[in-house]
Amino acid sequence: MPDSNESNASLRFSSVSTAAPDPILGLTEAFLADERSDKMNLSVGVYKDASGQTPVLECVKEAESRLLETEKTKGYLAIDGLPDYRQAVKQMIFGDAVSSDRIATLQSPGGTGALRIAASFLSSQMPPLRVWASTPTWANHHAVFESEGLPIESYRYLSSDRTSLDFDAMIEDLNTKSKPGDAVLLHACCHNPTGIDPSGEQWEVIAKTVSERGLLPLIDFAYQGFGHGLSEDAESIKTILRHNDEAIICNSFSKNFGLYGERVGAVSFVAGNSDAATAVQSQLKKLVRCNYSNPPRHGGSIVATILGCSELTQKWESELANMRNRIKALREQFVTTMKNTGKGHDFTFLLNQSGMFSFSGLNKMQVDQLKADHGIYIVGSGRINVAGMQESKMEKFCSAIATVLEG
Ligand code: LMR
Repeated sequence: MPDSNESNASLRFSSVSTAAPDPILGLTEAFLADERSDKMNLSVGVYKDASGQTPVLECVKEAESRLLETEKTKGYLAIDGLPDYRQAVKQMIFGDAVSSDRIATLQSPGGTGALRIAASFLSSQMPPLRVWASTPTWANHHAVFESEGLPIESYRYLSSDRTSLDFDAMIEDLNTKSKPGDAVLLHACCHNPTGIDPSGEQWEVIAKTVSERGLLPLIDFAYQGFGHGLSEDAESIKTILRHNDEAIICNSFSKNFGLYGERVGAVSFVAGNSDAATAVQSQLKKLVRCNYSNPPRHGGSIVATILGCSELTQKWESELANMRNRIKALREQFVTTMKNTGKGHDFTFLLNQSGMFSFSGLNKMQVDQLKADHGIYIVGSGRINVAGMQESKMEKFCSAIATVLEG
């Protein structure tokens, strides 16, 4: 044992400062510590049913019971994951739009893991590279890219009244500020945090702009099936690929399979030819090997089991459609209930938003007041997790919002 003086001198960690709580997951920590019984957590993007539970989908339960019967080993997966899973990911995202041998797909620990692998690749293989992200964007995007030493810059996205897309400003920023070789981060559907997506025609313009400026499209695809449908939500990616030979797509199955804690996602690099895709795949594996070695087995096996069986796939698609339709109905109920508060609060603009989230336009002070006075947690940007709303609590929620809006 060192004596106390020696041990004091070697207390290296005592100079470490405390980090700020995460802007999204930190709210759930605060929510859990909140002792009020009528509290509501509408911060993190997690789907909840009418009773406030995040259910395990029936197709997932069924796949798990099949796995329990048939699984022979818990041995390591390959560095790039399960082959059947990787093939299913390619099919789900690209269909026949790109030939499979031009795509390097790696199973990743969730969508965040996919983004971090992409960032790590870009930082090691093609610096100096700047990443252009919308203002606002998912609260973790900046941290992920900055952690790999990649500078992140912002393009405008929201109109000044924060209710719609300022498309002209977005294109102007990409046209005048980005440089060839930069990457542009796009949300394929269900923009997080705003819920505001470009139209089909606007995607066409974005795809051409990205190509003309020589930018690399880097697409976050965390909500496939939560917007308008599985293939509808992938249309933006297909449009980008009609005008660009290369792209990176980071997708997640957290939401659409309800597999949040299983950490299931993938990163897919679309290359100009199959040789390039093979080389990229080898570099991605090298990055993963010295990070977490290989991905977790269980979540990927569940997805591969479901997508490998037409009966389970059908069941999944119908459960996904139920979640999508219920979120839409909740958004409508919210707008109507706000109207019915009789205080002139018109949230009709929310009906143009899609996916899990709605951007309420509430400012930071109002968000803080919702938490302090009403035990209601939403993200600081004013983002509400519509998928976490409950029909039975809508009146209470809306009357709290009306109160904070009145100051
Ligand atoms: C969210 O935006 O709430 C989700 O994507 C969960 C997360 O990791 O932030």
